[in-house]
Amino acid sequence: MIAAPLFQVIYTSRSRIGGDATTLRREVAEILEAARRDNARDGITGALLYNHAGFAQVLEGPLPAVTATFERIQRDSRHGDVVVLASGAIAARAFADWRMGLADPLAPETGSLDLGAASAEGIVALLASVVGQAAAWPA
Ligand SMILES: Cc1cc2nc3c(=O)[nH]c(=O)nc-3n(C[C@H](O)[C@H](O)[C@H](O)COP(=O)(O)O)c2cc1C
Repeated sequence: MIAAPLFQVIYTSRSRIGGDATTLRREVAEILEAARRDNARDGITGALLYNHAGFAQVLEGPLPAVTATFERIQRDSRHGDVVVLASGAIAARAFADWRMGLADPLAPETGSLDLGAASAEGIVALLASVVGQAAAWPA
């Protein structure tokens, strides 16, 4: 069987999640739970970073699945100001083992990433070094 071509999208966005630390934890946990469930179904892998300013995410998989998922993500009111830093065909997945990894919330690089100035390459490299199986942002 010929494998479907792989496609990758890398974006940043501004968080619109308000409230206290407990609310934040719950919202991020809910995002991850839904993402991991739906990505397993759709053949999508990737990684997500959340910090005080917002999100950075890498999505990868077959083009139709990535397109449909990214359209849903862009409509999600838990964030806004989505900026696509890179999108295009890739030869291999960067996060093949991750239905949606979360950047270690306690890693200093996660907290200090300047989402407004980050490059696509920088985000992929950072996520690859701090990605983990955490279920949420700690209190
Ligand atoms: C920052 C962020 C990242 C998300 N990542 C994914 C993802 O990787 N895969 C996914 O299916 N949904 C992801 N979601 C959730 C979708 O936006 C959406 O809530 C979910 O797919 C359910 O969509 P529906 O309510 O239209 O069915 C993410 C949401 C946010 C805010």
